[in-house]
Amino acid sequence: MGYAGPRAAAPILIDGLRRLEYRGYDSAGVAICDGPRLAVRKAEGKLARLAELLEDDPLPGTTGIGHTRWATHGVPSDQNAHPHTDPSGEIAVVHNGIIENYLALREELAGRGAVFTSETDSEVLAHLVAEEYTGDLLEATRRAVGRARGAYALVVVSSREPGRIVAVRMISPLVVGVGDGEVFLASDIPALLPHTRDVMVVDNGEIVDVTPAGARLQTLAGEAVQRGLLEVTWDVGQAEKGGYPHFMLKEIHEQPRAIGDTLTGRILDGGGVVLDEVHFPPGFVRSLDRIWVTACGTAFHAGLVAKEVIEGLLRVPVEVAYAHELRYRDPLIGPGSLTVAISQSGETADTLAAARLARERGSRLLALTNVVGSTLSREADDLLYTRAGPEIAVASTKAYLTMLVGEYLLALALGRERGVLGREEVEDLIAGLRTLPRVVEEALGRADEVRVLAERIAERDDVYFIGRGLDYAVAMEGSLKMKEISYVHSEAMPAGELKHGTLALVTEGTPVVVVLTQGATYDKTISALQEVKARRAFTVAVAWDDDDDIGKHAEAVLRIPRVPELLAPVPAVVPLQLLAYYVAATRGHDIDQPRNLAKSVTVE
Ligand code: AGP
Repeated sequence: MGYAGPRAAAPILIDGLRRLEYRGYDSAGVAICDGPRLAVRKAEGKLARLAELLEDDPLPGTTGIGHTRWATHGVPSDQNAHPHTDPSGEIAVVHNGIIENYLALREELAGRGAVFTSETDSEVLAHLVAEEYTGDLLEATRRAVGRARGAYALVVVSSREPGRIVAVRMISPLVVGVGDGEVFLASDIPALLPHTRDVMVVDNGEIVDVTPAGARLQTLAGEAVQRGLLEVTWDVGQAEKGGYPHFMLKEIHEQPRAIGDTLTGRILDGGGVVLDEVHFPPGFVRSLDRIWVTACGTAFHAGLVAKEVIEGLLRVPVEVAYAHELRYRDPLIGPGSLTVAISQSGETADTLAAARLARERGSRLLALTNVVGSTLSREADDLLYTRAGPEIAVASTKAYLTMLVGEYLLALALGRERGVLGREEVEDLIAGLRTLPRVVEEALGRADEVRVLAERIAERDDVYFIGRGLDYAVAMEGSLKMKEISYVHSEAMPAGELKHGTLALVTEGTPVVVVLTQGATYDKTISALQEVKARRAFTVAVAWDDDDDIGKHAEAVLRIPRVPELLAPVPAVVPLQLLAYYVAATRGHDIDQPRNLAKSVTVE
């Protein structure tokens, strides 16, 4: 958030950040210019803490920048909160995104005597702007980002140029709001709406020079850009949802970006995988005798995929256990094993207890989690953060997909270290991973077909999901989404299990969703489909675009773009997320806050 105008900046920044808190809420800060004086206030925790600080000790000044954080590098703390300043304290920056080459830049700058006060990637930007500063903040910022690689919406102020704000965009969103004699900058539209509806979107690779008089847009190469103002008609609630009716649908559509962010800086050309917060001791991976995966709910379903993938690639046994079961069992967990605890929130009580039990038994603990600084992340030996960003809807979607991506990365890293994966195999999988944002985007483009199908299923009281192997794991997740938000009774099971009992429940018109992406079990799964069809079920298949046969078997087909079969759960779950969403929407339920559920289950 940024403001340049005649009014006191602090209250405007705080109000704007409050409207952006759905994007991140683990710490916050502001930097405000009062003439040639630049002052910074920042605090760990909810924005309210910062607001209290400013109430007790107000900051004068009419030009300022602010930030509410969703940590990616460095736990939530006063130190790691933004804004970050250069050593002179004359330049302050706030940043949204990930600087991929931050470690190399830190070393280079430290080599010239720079001292860093935080663990963040973002702080290097303040040092770079200062190093490039020769009297013009715009040129210094342009040169500074020229040395950074990655994604950034970056906003900069300097006490040397009060009244001026410079901002630049590469991937992460940035918008400008133009008022009467004042200009606003923000990551998203909700922060602007109380002041103006005249908005200008900053495009990728553009830099904007802001003073109270207006905003000048240029490309990073220096060409002037003329762009008209858009008039925003959304109300604030709509704007927070990015124009989507629910956070869940917004988060489903954020998945291509979330996958891209989770891959950023972690897969290298030539087949390398970099997991910079995983530090297995030498020889540990080669001597691994068992891997345990523990979690609850959707995270457990991600664990089912991890089992298939890691066992398939590494030939090491993987035990997947519900955390609420594992914690009361006497599991054969011991030194020499690795336990992967998966949790979006990192605060689920059962998962924490199971993780602690594993550690007590001498197992090494890796946390696959979405919240930097969460309890689970603080208790783990190794960390693999998914980068889905804050997930507001109770029904988890983008966090689930990024958990899968995290698992593929982990399997590749373990496989390479164990020396069981050939170069070609790794390169093929990495090539496949790189296609996932596009492939998911394509699958999302078929939402209308799913909506039509959902209207038919919304009339039913029961629906069944089946599949084999990885498809069974996807069926489990599809079924949970359906239950959670549509309140339709739903069950998932391995396709081969149907005829051992549940088939008795299948009658005329009973919807049965069959996931069919795995060639090795394709025919066997078709047999299960035929079994329910023989009982006049309404058969819906999730199948590849190039599957020419499935149309002969299933009444309806939800098609997905082809990827390597091991990666199939990523595109395959998308139509099932949408199916649950549209069934719930057809039934008019409170989709983001379904009855009886909580986003993070912190009690036993
Ligand atoms: C999934 O949509 C649910 N919100 C729930 O099952 C969730 O996955 C489970 O409570 C685990 O949460 P966690 O990933 O935060 O540990």
